[in-house]
Amino acid sequence: MAQTGFTPLTYDDTVGQPLERRGGRAKVTGTAPYSAEWKVDGLLYAMPVLSTIARGKVVSIDSSIAESMPGVKMILTPENVPRVKKVRPAGESNFGTSLASSLIPAAERDVYFVGQYMAAVIADSFEAARDAAMAVKLEYEVSEHQTDVFQSPADERPKDLQGEPPTFTMGDPDGALKKAAVQVDLEFKLAANHHNPIEPHATIADWKEKDGKPFLRVYDASQSISLSQMTLVQMFELKPEQVQVICKLVGGAFGCKGLMWPHSILAVMCSKVMQAPVKIAISREMMYGGTGHRTPMFQRVAIGADSDGKIESLIHSGFASTSRKDVYAEAFTMPSRSMYATANLKLDQTQCRVDSQLPTFMRAPPETPGMFALEVAMDVMADKLKLDPIEFRKRNEPSIEPHSKKPYSGRHLVECMELGAKQFGWANRNNSPRSTRDGHWLVGMGMAPATFPALGFPTAARVTLRSDGTAHIDCCSHELGTGTETVQCQLLSSLLGIPVKNVTMELGDSTLPPGGISGGSSTTFSLGGAVRKAVDALKSNLVKLASTNADFKSLKVDDVRFTEGKLVGPSASISIVDLLKQAKKDSLAEVGSFQPGKDSKTANHSYGAHFVEVGVDEDFGIVRMRRMLACYACGTIMNAKTARSQFMGAMIMGVGHALMEETKWDHHLGRITNNNLAEYHVPVQADIPKIDVMWITDPDFNASPIGGKGIGEIGITGVAAAISNAIYNATGRRLYDLPMTPERFLKGSAHA
Ligand code: MOS
Repeated sequence: MAQTGFTPLTYDDTVGQPLERRGGRAKVTGTAPYSAEWKVDGLLYAMPVLSTIARGKVVSIDSSIAESMPGVKMILTPENVPRVKKVRPAGESNFGTSLASSLIPAAERDVYFVGQYMAAVIADSFEAARDAAMAVKLEYEVSEHQTDVFQSPADERPKDLQGEPPTFTMGDPDGALKKAAVQVDLEFKLAANHHNPIEPHATIADWKEKDGKPFLRVYDASQSISLSQMTLVQMFELKPEQVQVICKLVGGAFGCKGLMWPHSILAVMCSKVMQAPVKIAISREMMYGGTGHRTPMFQRVAIGADSDGKIESLIHSGFASTSRKDVYAEAFTMPSRSMYATANLKLDQTQCRVDSQLPTFMRAPPETPGMFALEVAMDVMADKLKLDPIEFRKRNEPSIEPHSKKPYSGRHLVECMELGAKQFGWANRNNSPRSTRDGHWLVGMGMAPATFPALGFPTAARVTLRSDGTAHIDCCSHELGTGTETVQCQLLSSLLGIPVKNVTMELGDSTLPPGGISGGSSTTFSLGGAVRKAVDALKSNLVKLASTNADFKSLKVDDVRFTEGKLVGPSASISIVDLLKQAKKDSLAEVGSFQPGKDSKTANHSYGAHFVEVGVDEDFGIVRMRRMLACYACGTIMNAKTARSQFMGAMIMGVGHALMEETKWDHHLGRITNNNLAEYHVPVQADIPKIDVMWITDPDFNASPIGGKGIGEIGITGVAAAISNAIYNATGRRLYDLPMTPERFLKGSAHA
C-alpha cells in the first residue's frame, strides 16, 4: 500500500459548501482595487519605447522632439538608465527569482523581438508619456530575423523539463512500434496563444526616502508577490524591509503574471530616478511582446497496439520555441509519462530559437498542448481497433505510473469516464462518423481525459485566534480565480469549528508571511497546508494554556481536538475564547509553513473526462459547440461554487484553444499582427453551449495536506482533443492542427 503523505482530516460540512465568493460585489461594482487603480499622490506615468524590428541593434536614439513635448519629465535610455544588479531569471534559477527574462528594459542596445522596451518616457500624464514615446526615434542596424518556428532548426535540447530530463526511454519503443499489429503515427502543429486576461499588466512603483533610507512600494499585477519582492530586493540591492509589493486582486492571469516582466522593473527604475511614484499600465497591444505567450509547437505521437487494444509502444516527441536570449521549456510530453500503461515509452523534446518574446506558462502548461496530441492519437487508435474510445482507454489503465513505477493516488480516471459517459448519454453516440445530422449540421460526439499534477509551493500563513471568538488568516497569497479568501476562511472555520462569518483573511501584501507562486493550480493546496500547520501550532499552545485546568492537566496534543470553537479533551472541553481570557490574552497567533514533499510514495495527479457534442457545417467549415460535460476527480472540493466556476472557466478557455486562439506573426516583418481582441479570437457567450460539471469527491491525503488537489487548470486539458475527436465523429475528417478554424477545416489537415 502507498504510504500516506498527510494525516487525513475530517471536515464538518463548511468545507465544500457553495459559499458566495467574498469580494464578488466589489468586483462587479467596480470598487475592487486592481493594481493600476491605486490612488497615489504625485503620480507620474511612464511609457516604454518599443522596438519595431525583430533582430538587430539600436545605433542611435533621438529623443530631441520627445523631450520638448508638454508634460515630459525625463527620457530613459541606455545612457542614463539606473543600473540594476543582474540576477538569474526564474527559468535558470529554479524560481530563485521571479524574473521572466534576462533583458533589462531601457538598458539594452541589442534587439531580440518586436515590442522590446528600448527606452522609456516619463511624463505627468499617461497621454503625454504615450505621445512622447511615439516621438522617440530609434535607428537600427537590422539583422536577419526568424519568427517562424517551422523555419528555425529545432536542434537544441532544453536542459530540463520541469526538473526532469528532456528525453526519456523505457524498453524498445521504436522496435515495439514496428512490430505492433496496429500503429498510428501522427504529427500535430499548434499555434502560439496569448493569455488575454481582462486586467492587463500594470505596475505602480513608489520609491521614496523613509527614515533616511530608500523605501520601495510597488503595486503590481502579479501571481507571485513574495517572490517578486525578493527579486526586487536583489535587483535594486535593498533589504527585504525596504521593499513592499502589494496586489490585492488579480483580474485574470492564467500564467502571464506568474513571472515578473520588464515593465515592472522599468516602473521601479523610473520611480527611483524621479524619486516619485510612477505608473506603467500595459495596453492590450503591448501584452503581445511585452509579456509572454504559449509557444507554438510541433508534436509527434506514435502508438503501437496489439489487436486486443493493448498499447505496446508510446512515442511522444517534438519541439517548442524559446527566445534567442533565454529559455522557457514547455514540457508537452509530460502527460505521456503517466496516462497509460506501456512497457515501451519514448519521450523526446527539442527546442528552436526565434526572435520573439520568451514564451511562458499558459493555463495548464504542458498538459493543455500535450494532451491534445496524445488524446487525438488515442482516438485514432481506438477507431482503427474498432473499439469505443472509453473501452480502449480502460484496456490501457495502468496499475502503476509507467515512468516512476509509483502507485497512483486518487486516480479515478475510469470512474470519471464512466460517470461522465452515463450523464452525457455517450451510449447514444454512433461509432461510425457521419451518421448523425441535425438539418444542415453534421453532429458528432467526442471525449478525452483530463489530467494535471498535484503541485505545491512553499507557503507560510499566520493564523490569529482572538478573544472575541473570531479568527484571522494572514498570507501574502493571491486573490485570483481561486477565491482564495473565501476558500481559506472556509477551511479555517472547519478546522476550528467556528462560524465562517467569524473568519477573515488578509492577502496580497508582501509584509504578510510569504505566499507561494499562485501558479500550477497550487494555491489552495499550499496555503491550506500552511493554515493546517498554524492550527496545529495553535493547538499545542492552547493545550499548554489549558494545562492549568485540572481536566486538561497532562493531556497531549493528540488527545484533544477542536469542535465548535472549543478545545475538547477526553473528559472535558473549554472554549478557545475562555482559554484566551483566562490567560489574559487578546489574541494568540502562530505561523504555519507548508513545504511540498520531494519524495512522495505515490504518483499524485488529478484526473477527469471531457465529453463534447459539436455541430459542423461542412460548407463553411464552422464548428459549433452543442454540449459540454466534464467529470473530475481532484480530491476534496473545498467550495462547490468556486470550484464549478474554475472548471467551467477552464473548459471555456479550452474551446478557445481548440477553435479560435492563434497568435499570428507576419514573419516577413517579424511582428505579431493580431495583437488585439478584435483579431485574436476568444470565445464569447454565444460560442459556449450548456456546460455540465460533475466530480467525484475522494479526499486525497497522499497528495495533499488538505485532501484537495488543484482545480484551476485541469479543466482546459483534453478539451481540444475531445473537440477534434467529435469533429471526426461528425464528419469523418481528422484535424491535427490548432486552432481548428474554418480555414483549417476547409483545407483539410495536411497529414490526413
Ligand atoms: Mo498557471 S499557467 O500555472 O498560472
